[in-house]
Amino acid sequence: MQRGWFISFEGGEGTGKTTQIRRLAAHLEALGRTVVLTREPGGTPVAEAARAVLLDPALEPLGLSELFLLEAARHDLVERVIRPALARGEVVLCDRYADSSTVYQGMVRGIGVERVEELNRLATGDLDPDLTLVLDLDPRAGVTRARSRNAAGDGSESRLDDEPAEFHRRVREGFLRLSVLHPDRVCVVDAAGDPEMVFPRLLAALPEEFR
Ligand code: TYD
Repeated sequence: MQRGWFISFEGGEGTGKTTQIRRLAAHLEALGRTVVLTREPGGTPVAEAARAVLLDPALEPLGLSELFLLEAARHDLVERVIRPALARGEVVLCDRYADSSTVYQGMVRGIGVERVEELNRLATGDLDPDLTLVLDLDPRAGVTRARSRNAAGDGSESRLDDEPAEFHRRVREGFLRLSVLHPDRVCVVDAAGDPEMVFPRLLAALPEEFR
């Protein structure tokens, strides 16, 4: 049996993560791999329920409550979806994972990297991705993309999208810092330009067998 592989996608809003993940899924399937595509927060009924709370503009959970909801959703997704798929030798592509909490809650919201990473380890049972692709884009370009997507009404919720420019700048810096903290698995991909231009850059970060 082939060994399972776990790839997470990270980055700010509107960096084109979703488009690139779909492309990569199709590419890997064409190579004969079974791909499981999922997202955080979400991906199981428990986690989707947590997502609905997190993204409801009427609720505004406190910072730590938000973190615990994210970790609860994460634990459920890891145990019910990600670990079983990896055990079957499949490739798991996850749209955001524990690093999003490290950056958004730990760095930007100020809970602290070490505390969040400790909770991440508890929630994931120490399951790290084999590879984390950070799609990096100047936030001015990213937010414009996300806005036009929301205005087009594709169903994307936006409580957390609706943040000032300074916030997006700090998110970007946070992900770049993450690549310094975990150079063994985090790879920064330049997300500027058309999706057709970004995809080959992303493929270049993958092991030979997936290109
Ligand atoms: P989503 O609609 O999935 O946005 P995107 O297309 O940018 O991935 O919304 C997820 C939002 O939740 C996004 O603003 C990032 C935030 N988030 C955190 O703050 N911490 C986390 O751990 C995760 C997984 C997401």
